[in-house]
Amino acid sequence: MSIQTIAVLGAGTMGNGIAHVAALGGYQVLLQDVVEEAHRRALATIESNLRKGVERGKLTDADARAALERVRTTADLERCGREADLVIEAVPERIELKLQVYATLDRAAPAHTIFASNTSALSITEMAAATRRPRRFIGMHFFNPVHVMKLVEVVRGLETDDATLGATVEVAQRMGKETVEVRESPGFVTSRINALIGNEAFRMLQEGVASARDIDKALKLGLNHPMGPFEMADLVGLDTRLSILRYLHQTLGDAYRPNLLLEQMVKAGRLGKKVGRGVYDYPEAAPRS
Ligand SMILES: NC(=O)c1ccc[n+]([C@@H]2O[C@H](COP(=O)([O-])OP(=O)(O)OC[C@H]3O[C@@H](n4cnc5c(N)ncnc54)[C@H](O)[C@@H]3O)[C@@H](O)[C@H]2O)c1
Repeated sequence: MSIQTIAVLGAGTMGNGIAHVAALGGYQVLLQDVVEEAHRRALATIESNLRKGVERGKLTDADARAALERVRTTADLERCGREADLVIEAVPERIELKLQVYATLDRAAPAHTIFASNTSALSITEMAAATRRPRRFIGMHFFNPVHVMKLVEVVRGLETDDATLGATVEVAQRMGKETVEVRESPGFVTSRINALIGNEAFRMLQEGVASARDIDKALKLGLNHPMGPFEMADLVGLDTRLSILRYLHQTLGDAYRPNLLLEQMVKAGRLGKKVGRGVYDYPEAAPRS
């Protein structure tokens, strides 16, 4: 199964990073989004991140230019289905939206095309079952920021076949990533553990066990975590974290019941770094309107 063209659906936070590493891996990239402005923003982000790579001596100027030239943007989902050998979907985390995207894509794409979802926690098997290609459907869970983070969780749905798994691992490696293979279950490995640690940290904060700063410091200096759980929650977004916890609570049980303080912070609009305030305040971050 030879993969030459990769379509990335959704040119947001994750989509632009996936397009960046795919282009650096030598693939032709079609970056698709329904919002015109997202195309311009994504190309500017990719160009700026590639330039930083050159400044840090991680890649040559010629490689960065060639990578950027391999990225084309489009609003046309059916074109992505027709032209790509692998489609990596990174549209917002709403199952009804993803199913709608896959229905259109499935009609346009030839039988050999592999579909991969970058979902954080949703069921690969459920999305695969809505297409005519459940054997060629897989999860590729990238991490933020994609061009920096080393791991891709490769998530095998119930019907995913070995050829699809092998081709996906090869693509991830050409993107410069390490992979782990995960049998589908809610939250895979990383979101499942991370949500639990984060939820427990909120519980400790609510109980007054220690301050947020000291809980973060304890995990960084005592357990060697590169970020504290509250720094991480602020980066991910408290609203995003809450919706992941709600899903894991529903599917895995009581250990994931979202903490009350986290719920209150979301209600108060303390959504994290993206709005300038979460567990901590970020006066320098421009609040979203
Ligand atoms: N942000 C993270 O840290 C992170 C990490 C791993 C996985 N994910 C997953 O990646 C996916 C995307 O998340 P994100 O953070 O990049 O979201 P985002 O909101 O930054 O970007 C989503 C993009 O999809 C576009 N979009 C909306 N509807 C579309 C459609 N029908 N067709 C094409 N594009 C459409 C939006 O215009 C937007 O540009 C989600 O499934 C999320 O759970 C996110």
